[in-house]
This record gives sequence, C-alpha cells and structure tokens, in this order.
Amino acid sequence: MAHISDMISDHIEAYLKSHEGKGLARFITCGSADDGNSTMITGAATADVAVVMVDARKGVLVQTRRHSYLASLTGIRHVVVVISEMDLVDWSEQTFRAIAGEYAAFTQTLGFTDITCIPMSALKGDNVIARSEHMDWYRGTTLRGYLEAVPVDENRLQNSPFRLPVQRVTPDCRGITGTIASGIVSTGDRVRIQPAGRETRVARIVSADGDLEQAVAGQSITLTLADEVDISPGDIISTIDAPASVADQFEATLLWMAGDPMLPGRRYLLKIGGQTVNAGIGHLKYKLNVNTLEHTAATKLELNEIGVLNLSLDRQIAFDPYKENRATGGFILIDRISNTTIAAGMIDFALRRASNIHLQALDIDKAARARLKGQQGCVVWLTGLSGSGKSAIANQVEKKLYAAGRHTYILDGDNVRHGLNKDLGFTAADRVENIRRIAEVAKLMVDSGLIVITAFISPFRAERQMARDLLKQGEFYEVFVDTPLALAEERDPKGLYKKARRGELKNFTGIDSPYEAPESPEMVIDTTALSAEEAADVIIGRLSEAGMTGAAA
Ligand code: ADX
Repeated sequence: MAHISDMISDHIEAYLKSHEGKGLARFITCGSADDGNSTMITGAATADVAVVMVDARKGVLVQTRRHSYLASLTGIRHVVVVISEMDLVDWSEQTFRAIAGEYAAFTQTLGFTDITCIPMSALKGDNVIARSEHMDWYRGTTLRGYLEAVPVDENRLQNSPFRLPVQRVTPDCRGITGTIASGIVSTGDRVRIQPAGRETRVARIVSADGDLEQAVAGQSITLTLADEVDISPGDIISTIDAPASVADQFEATLLWMAGDPMLPGRRYLLKIGGQTVNAGIGHLKYKLNVNTLEHTAATKLELNEIGVLNLSLDRQIAFDPYKENRATGGFILIDRISNTTIAAGMIDFALRRASNIHLQALDIDKAARARLKGQQGCVVWLTGLSGSGKSAIANQVEKKLYAAGRHTYILDGDNVRHGLNKDLGFTAADRVENIRRIAEVAKLMVDSGLIVITAFISPFRAERQMARDLLKQGEFYEVFVDTPLALAEERDPKGLYKKARRGELKNFTGIDSPYEAPESPEMVIDTTALSAEEAADVIIGRLSEAGMTGAAA
C-alpha cells in the first residue's frame, strides 16, 4: 500500500491497513506528499480503487492532481476523495462542496467511471466507519461503506492473457518458478518463452500443495515444461494465443523522481519484472502540465514531472503495454552510478521501427579491418577541464603513433563542434548529446580499425560510462587529464575563464557547471608534473602493453 503523507491522519491509515484484503476493494492511497508517486505506478498493479487524500484546509494541490493523473494512467477507474480535517474547517459544507467541485472539474477528462467525495475527520473517526454527527448535511457513504460496496472486477487479472515472469530456474532448466502475473495456466497449454520465442507445452504445475491441473493469477508455482528450452530468470512465459510484445524500443510515460533533471541521450538501467537492461532516453515528445493537463514541448524533465518519450534498450525484452497488463508493463529506471531509482514508467507501445531495422551482417568485420592496419582499434578518451591540455596531449599522441606507422584519428571540439555537432551548445542536455554522438562516431571508427583519440571536457561520469559501454572490454582507455582549476584558469588560453568569471559566459565548466572527475580511469596524467609529450609517451606505453599498436610503436 502506498505511503500516506503525515498530514493525513494516522487513524485513517491504520484503519485502511488493518482492513486491507478483508472484504474491501483493493485500493491504493494517494497522499498529498510527492513521495508516494512511484508507488502509484508500481503498486497499482492490483488496485481497483484510488483513495485520494485531500486536506480540507489546503484543498486540491498540485500533488493531488499529479496523483490523480497517475491513478488514471494506471488504469484505475474508481476514485474516492477523502476530504479530511473537516473539524478544522468548522465542518463546513461549503468548503467540502468547493473542493469536490474543483476535483470533479479537473478530473473530467481522466476517464474515471465514478468519483465519490467523503468529508471526514480523523480525530474521532467521523465518516471513516461510523457516520459523523457533525455533518448532517452529508447523506453519502462512509469510507468503509464505500470500500465494501464499490463494484470491482474480481476476475480482471485472471481474464488477461497468461503471463509468468520467471523468478528461478532449476539447473536442468526443467523447473521454472514464479508468481503468475495474469491469466490462467493449465497442464498441456502451449506456451512461448519470451523474449527468445521458443514454444513448448506445460507438462506439470507444482504448488506448495502438490500438483495442480490449473493455476491462476497471484499463485506462486513451479512449472515443468515438455521440452528442454533455454530459459533464464527475467524471461516471461506467455500463452501462445496472446503472447507478450517483444521489442527493444518503445514509447513510455515517465514520472521523473530524481533531483537532477532527466536528460535525453543519457543511459540508465531499466528494470521491468525480473529483467534489467541498459536503456537510453530518446526523444522527449512532450511533458504534461498537471494543472491544465496540457502537453508542452520540453527538452528535459525535472523532479516530479511527467513526460512521454522514446526509450531504446540494448537488447529485446518481453512486455505488455501498461494499459493491457499493469504487471508486465510498468518499469523503473535506476541511475547507474548512484544505484537509486530515479523514475517510474509505463510502456505505451513498442516502436515499430524496432522490429523493422536489422543490423546488416557484413563479410569484412572489425578484426579484418584492424588486421590490415596491423593494430587494434581502440579509443583514448581524454577528459578534463577546459585548458587542461587535452588537445595538446592528443596532438602529441597522434604525431607519435603516425610516426610509427599507425592509423589514427583525433576527434575534438574543432572538428566536431563546427560540423556534426554545430547545433549543440553547453547546457547539460547539449553536453550529453555532444558526448553521445562523439561516442557513437568513435565506435564506428574503432570498427574501422582506427586508434581514436578524443579530446572533450566530457564533464559527466554517466556519458563517459556510456561511451565505455559502447565498446568492448579493452577498447576504451579513459585518461583523466588532471589539472587543478586554479592552474587551468591561470593558463586560460582562450580567455574564457575570465569571461565566465565576469558572468559573460554561462554554464562554464568548473565555474557554474560541474566537472565530475573520473573515479577509476585507466590513466591519470598530472599536468603539473608532465609535459604534453611526456604524457603522450605514458599513454602510448599503455596502449603498446595492451597490444593495441601492433609490433611497431
Ligand atoms: S563538453 O563539455 O561538451 O565535452 P567540449 O569539450 O565539446 O565540451 O567543448 C569545450 C570547449 O568549448 C572548451 O574548451 C571551450 O573552449 C569551449 N567552451 C565554450 N563555452 C563553454 C562552456 N560554457 N563550458 C565549457 N567550455 C566552453
């Protein structure tokens, strides 16, 4: 059950908790605090009713609107609005009516089938279980009465197609354990293992009480399959009549929950069911104004904002659109560095192009191209403050490798920010995109067998990690060109630090835009101790050791 804000009385919370699952409708509570946002999405899988808490003194808040919007997205159709603390507004019918009216107007387009408002006071439990003596103007139901009477679709989960997210697999791959997310399974049923797609039959269904002929949503079971098939935790077993979707790109509705804004282009971990995959945030189509429900154009999402965007994964997963199956369509995003949950989302639909674009298998591959050049393609990724000496070092590295007959290419601001990336500036979002494109280009160059040297500030750990992840182990050499800010500022070869200090240049790295130093780079160059040429020798020494430069260098 969701968290209830501490502004809402403990009494109601205790009552709801103690009655959960006892003949009452399954419900989810929406407090007036924002920390319950993610539970709205992840916890709504089984709820029929949203209990929306509104403090009579405060009325409909932005959070109330946001929670209601999320509740509607989760597919909940019944809403009860608890207007609490009525004792503190003198049991005023007028206040109650005003809040109920505002709420009804706001939710008109949200698709709820019924909205019931109940005036309440937790102090002595007015209208919680027993009718209030203070509000005889109110003729409606109590909260308990409501939750007992609201029509719920008991069979909703069972009526959906069969889905079993795999939790455990025995070593011989025959016993598959999990909790049925939706639908019904019987022995003999034909099933598909997703995302891989193999089909087989259910041989046995084993539960704690022995063998079963049939099992339904909510039951924890172990299935035995008729054939030996490749299957791992995180896979989904579906009925072949209505299997789950399989794709690596989709449109999703996302609720951003982190203090740092969401930046298109950045990569996060996506967790859906038992599957965890790398996900890149693509185009942000729009964000939602929760007050007006209008769609507005945006380039990023801030804390608690809701947006619709494209996500691309590094491999295919099995899922259902959230509207069709809440259990297999909801996901969370995790920050790869801090390991915290930063967003909750719902899959809207798979993007068709995902299944229509296939990587062309080519006869001449990376190894063949590199062999012809007598070296191995790799990236030397220089990162450091502006004025730290990245370009000078890159230049020395290339000169020396060239002299040794190696095939190289330098990517730096001059050739990239004037061409491929001339549409990008220095906001955090643009820097993320700058590095994303550079990393993709570097990867293509490595594929062509080149030794690539990149010289960009690349201030964010997440994007350097993304660049690393695009390449194979041993192909990426992160070099921290370590120069104290004071020294870079003193050198100030382009006079930009002075401009930034005068406030004429915004978002300048080290001044009013952060630089996140590498935590475990392959190399650290202390520029107070080494010249650019000496630094180049250190870098090339390391590449040679790793066998990147072939025999010569
Ligand atoms: S990055 O942050 O996106 O990696 P990049 O290396 O491409 O930056 O470009 C940095 C160079 O652009 C700096 O060396 C400097 O000459 C110039 N520059 C112009 N404006 C800024 C700014 N606001 N912050 C940092 N560098 C800037």
